[in-house]
Amino acid sequence: MEIRAVRGMHDVFGEEIRLWHFIEEKIKKILGDFGFSEVRTPVLEKIEVFKETVGDETDIVEKQMYAIEKESETLVLRPEGTASFMRAVLEHGLHKQGGTGRYYYYEPMFRHERPQKGRLRQFHQFGAEIINDASPEADAELITVLDQIYRAFHITEYEVRINSVGCQDCRPVYKEALKKFFQPKLSSLCELCQKRFERAPMRILDCKRDSCQAIAKGAPVITDSLDEKCKMHHETLRKRLKETNVAYIDDPHIVRGLDYYSRTAFEFTSNLLGAQSALGGGGRYDLLATRFGEKEVPAVGWGLGMERLVIALETRKDIALPSENPVFYFASLGAKAFDTLFPLSLQLKRDGVRNEMTYDPAKSLKSQLKQADKSGAKYTVVLGEDELNQKQFLLKEMATGKQEALPLADLRKELSRRISAH
Ligand code: HAM
Repeated sequence: MEIRAVRGMHDVFGEEIRLWHFIEEKIKKILGDFGFSEVRTPVLEKIEVFKETVGDETDIVEKQMYAIEKESETLVLRPEGTASFMRAVLEHGLHKQGGTGRYYYYEPMFRHERPQKGRLRQFHQFGAEIINDASPEADAELITVLDQIYRAFHITEYEVRINSVGCQDCRPVYKEALKKFFQPKLSSLCELCQKRFERAPMRILDCKRDSCQAIAKGAPVITDSLDEKCKMHHETLRKRLKETNVAYIDDPHIVRGLDYYSRTAFEFTSNLLGAQSALGGGGRYDLLATRFGEKEVPAVGWGLGMERLVIALETRKDIALPSENPVFYFASLGAKAFDTLFPLSLQLKRDGVRNEMTYDPAKSLKSQLKQADKSGAKYTVVLGEDELNQKQFLLKEMATGKQEALPLADLRKELSRRISAH
């Protein structure tokens, strides 16, 4: 058997997991400060949760879902968080609790895409969603939260691109205008765009091919077709973002690859990422609940790609991760010394003091000291036959190399002193 993880799915450990923990804690703190509370949903959902909600025509639903057939049901590994979140909202009546609801999730997502840097088949998203609030201020708040997250990591190389994709009333008019524009140029568009022309002409606008982009440049923009309400919503959002000092770019080509959006759509892009430029993105999805056969639930949110944030941060050398090095390394020689240090080591761990020691009685003192060096411990405690005979132990401060022989009877007291100074 070839021992390898599934293509496009990664193990995370060592230095990298420390960076992940650092990021996760910071983001959770910011979300908490803005009043968001966590929701965890199952990894598996019935296929219907995504099929007609995210949209039959979207890449995610059309070709990227991992499906499992079980007992005449088709279950899929969650490809995105918003539809499962809305399923949970409707199932538990969270929208009936009154007032604005702020929720976030941090979960793995699964999409059968062609893997490349920043594009995985299992990736992780932080998502933030606000429900029961139709105001442009809720959109402004969410964009500000995402902006705050990147700022908190001192990432400056990104752009906030906003657009409005209109609503059920004004979007069909715009789609017709777009089709009229693309019709004479149809044969020059790529195969995928030609396929999208009939049912999803707006997706042509975000095709990454240079030739399609060149054609799309002259296309009519949706902001010229918005009805009064959508226009007002968008103008207020722009005003609020200016007030909160979020620098944004109006980008009429932000249409998003998911089908449930209305009005606000936005993306945070960065050239730190290479081909996959989206750090995060989202928008308003007031009508998603109706696709589940329920009444409208005003809602807006975003998803942030963890792996892409990690890539953006790995280019920086100035991040000081909190130290996870042990305070003590216990080196022992002989059964009696081991019997003294082993319970002490475990007790200190119970007390929350990091320490290490080997349980291998055959390990020489020399190799233990080597291990102590490697562990990055602040102090090494040495207890061998000689020390025991003299009722002493050695305490070495690793940074200075300073070594003291101290009374064995004072072992705990001396360690406590070092712990409180730590
Ligand atoms: P999305 O644009 O599909 O939106 O994904 C959001 C973010 O997840 C992307 O900007 C990117 O950073 C990351 N991402 C997406 N696909 C991959 C991949 N294959 N590998 C690595 N990272 C990836 C959504 O999923 C919406 N549910 C966001 C939303 C929440 N809209 C409203 N509320």
